[in-house]
Amino acid sequence: MKRIGVMTSGGDSSGMNAAIRAVVRTGLEYDIEVFGVRQGFLGLLNGDFHKLTSFEVSGILQRGGTILQTARTQDFKTAAGQAKGLRRLNEHGIEGLIIIGGDGSLRGAQALANLGFPVVGIPASIDNDIDGTNMSIGVDTALNTIIESLDRIRDTATSHTRAFIIEVMGRNCGYLAIISSILGGAEIVSVPEREISLEEIHDALVSAYVRGKSHAVAVIAEGVSYKTTDLVEYLESRGDVGFEVRLSILGHVQRGGSPSAFDRLLATRMGVKALEALREGQSGVMVALDGPEMTTVPIEKAIGRTRPINPSYFELARILSR
Ligand code: F6P
Repeated sequence: MKRIGVMTSGGDSSGMNAAIRAVVRTGLEYDIEVFGVRQGFLGLLNGDFHKLTSFEVSGILQRGGTILQTARTQDFKTAAGQAKGLRRLNEHGIEGLIIIGGDGSLRGAQALANLGFPVVGIPASIDNDIDGTNMSIGVDTALNTIIESLDRIRDTATSHTRAFIIEVMGRNCGYLAIISSILGGAEIVSVPEREISLEEIHDALVSAYVRGKSHAVAVIAEGVSYKTTDLVEYLESRGDVGFEVRLSILGHVQRGGSPSAFDRLLATRMGVKALEALREGQSGVMVALDGPEMTTVPIEKAIGRTRPINPSYFELARILSR
């Protein structure tokens, strides 16, 4: 293999740049040219490829987002789109592709592998919803951002004797919410995997007030079946919560920022492993963190289901939120 491509796709996550850098620099080690595909599958369909030199990936290790940019496109989901993408790769003499992204990106990777093109995936999504790996790139940085936000919000909540409803990202997965609720000392957490009703949240807030707490924090995952704005409306309509209630939707602040040490290391190891897997002739696989080891798993396993949350975390959250 003498020429490969690398692209980032779907929602960006901190550490993607570190993975790109690792792919390019490991390529140099093996005399493999690495071409960057701009804007994910959109760039693949448009043939938007350019060679990445060692210089171009210099100084990006600590940067959030992705220098290759990313996009969410539907066009690659069709058979015609996939055939066009394959043609573009062949036109540019690309012999293998590394796709860095979340569930949708890995589905695209699988489609290309099914057409016989060598593809290796790297799991990158703040949601930590990709099965088959303990962690995806960007999760740790997002968690650190959420925890810092929770700490700041608790300062003002305590000062005013307020209850805060804090909505965190995660799509259909409650990982960010459950872990940040434990590490941020929240009183209540509601996630798609174990949803707490509006009434239960009301009762928990009242109980915290009656117990004499100076504040209460409820972390709500964006994937639950109700809107946080409706939750706040409901709590206000009850009129007996005790605390004044405020809503804070953390939003895209969770996606950006300089990657944590953990994410830099994870992304670097995954980038190296992905290139080595391509060299070994592996395809249709995703690199994965299995305990301390870097390994590969079939992409089919990764996209088959949303990564489940370790049930012990629910118990931990319950015990510690008294
Ligand atoms: O998958 C990452 C993620 O940030 C989810 O947590 C969130 O639901 C979604 O992407 C937001 O997507 P967009 O940036 O396209 O609005």
